[in-house]
Amino acid sequence: MRRPMVAGNWKMHGTRASVAELIEGLAEQVLPSGVDVAVFPSSLHVIPVVEGLQGKSISVGAQNCAHEAGQGALTGEISSSQLADAGCKLVLVGHSERRQIMGEGDDVLIRKFAAAQASGLTPVLCIGETLEEREAGKTLEVVGQQLDSVIVALGINALVNAVIAYEPVWAIGTGLTASPQQAQDVHAAIRAQLAKENAEVAQGVRLLYGGSVKAANAVELFGMPDIDGGLIGGASLNAAEFGAIIRAAGN
Ligand code: 13P
Repeated sequence: MRRPMVAGNWKMHGTRASVAELIEGLAEQVLPSGVDVAVFPSSLHVIPVVEGLQGKSISVGAQNCAHEAGQGALTGEISSSQLADAGCKLVLVGHSERRQIMGEGDDVLIRKFAAAQASGLTPVLCIGETLEEREAGKTLEVVGQQLDSVIVALGINALVNAVIAYEPVWAIGTGLTASPQQAQDVHAAIRAQLAKENAEVAQGVRLLYGGSVKAANAVELFGMPDIDGGLIGGASLNAAEFGAIIRAAGN
């Protein structure tokens, strides 16, 4: 049985004051014990969030890490070992905003994924197609290739201590959500692709859906057999809404 996970990607949002308020609100939420919960604040806010959530069963992750695990001369970057030292447990790798806006390709993402694991962090590998790719009927090809690049470079066992998030780019921040069936179809294809390499790994890995998830659509999405939770953007900035999404995963 896979344990559901709900993760909140705060993206480039928050001030010290608003982050303090958000974690206070999260601490007040009644959370089901059967769901893993994580939040991904900006790197600047990782330490106060780790400190503020101490004693709560909410993990903290980073939204990005350097492609090198150790410390070194790499101005402006934060290494996975520094994130681990700060109390992070997870890190997002390959979010579409980094692929598209920051120009990160598979080669650098593979190195970030490996660096994360080398530091004991769980990478959350984000994959997903653009609207253009979906309309051209290329969804499974694109998602399959994004996943395959990691499998080819690092081996199927690299997915054992990892989470995969399917986030269709056209559903991110747009209010358009993939229908539960559309999401399930892609998740099933991802699991089948993993199963071709190793059935046990495929059955164990958690596949999260991301893209305009709200409390109102979470139950239906999380009810699909291959959807093991969600990666939540905008709705995770509201503690009550995020709490309701987490509870939906506990049903
Ligand atoms: P939204 O939930 O705001 O659509 O964002 C999804 C996302 O990108 C999470 O990583």
